[in-house]
Amino acid sequence: MKKPLVLYFSVYGTAKSTAEEIARLTGADLAEIEPAVTYDGDRNRYNALARLAKREQDEDRRPAIKNKLPIADYDTVFIGYPMWWYTFPMIIYTLFESYDFAGKTVIPFNTHMGSGDGGTYETVKQLCPKAKVLPGLPVEMSDAERGVPEKISRWLEKIYY
Ligand SMILES: Cc1cc2nc3c(=O)[nH]c(=O)nc-3n(C[C@H](O)[C@H](O)[C@H](O)COP(=O)(O)O)c2cc1C
Repeated sequence: MKKPLVLYFSVYGTAKSTAEEIARLTGADLAEIEPAVTYDGDRNRYNALARLAKREQDEDRRPAIKNKLPIADYDTVFIGYPMWWYTFPMIIYTLFESYDFAGKTVIPFNTHMGSGDGGTYETVKQLCPKAKVLPGLPVEMSDAERGVPEKISRWLEKIYY
């Protein structure tokens, strides 16, 4: 099987650690979606981040991505993000509007604190209609923090291998 790519956006580190686990289990390459303007990862200032994220959503913004992502080189791309205000962060729209996923296999996953995937896996399908989108994996933040390799393995067995 050709090497997949695991792409992720993460501010508090849990989508990142989940992405790293998926990459370890599948032998994938990893790439971070880096925002041009860094988000504050200090959890003591959660309220300010929550306000900013809400404003971005209300204003339908497209926060810029700083780095070039090697998506064209891969047939299979895992895409991970946290739930922000019941959906994915607006930078994920930037991603789908900046890169072509036609003909690729896209596999979403996300971290959350109760919202599951918030319907975002359906949104992913709508945003890249010419990709094959496989069933995603929502991971609770606390699970992502302690690490749940068995859960990730079971999901991969079901949808990927
Ligand atoms: C701005 C903001 C909004 C959030 N909104 C939701 C939400 O609507 N539903 C939910 O389940 N969790 C929500 N969370 C919790 C995050 O999804 C959770 O902390 C996640 O593990 C963070 O991922 P990260 O560590 O990769 O940044 C929110 C967190 C932040 C910072």
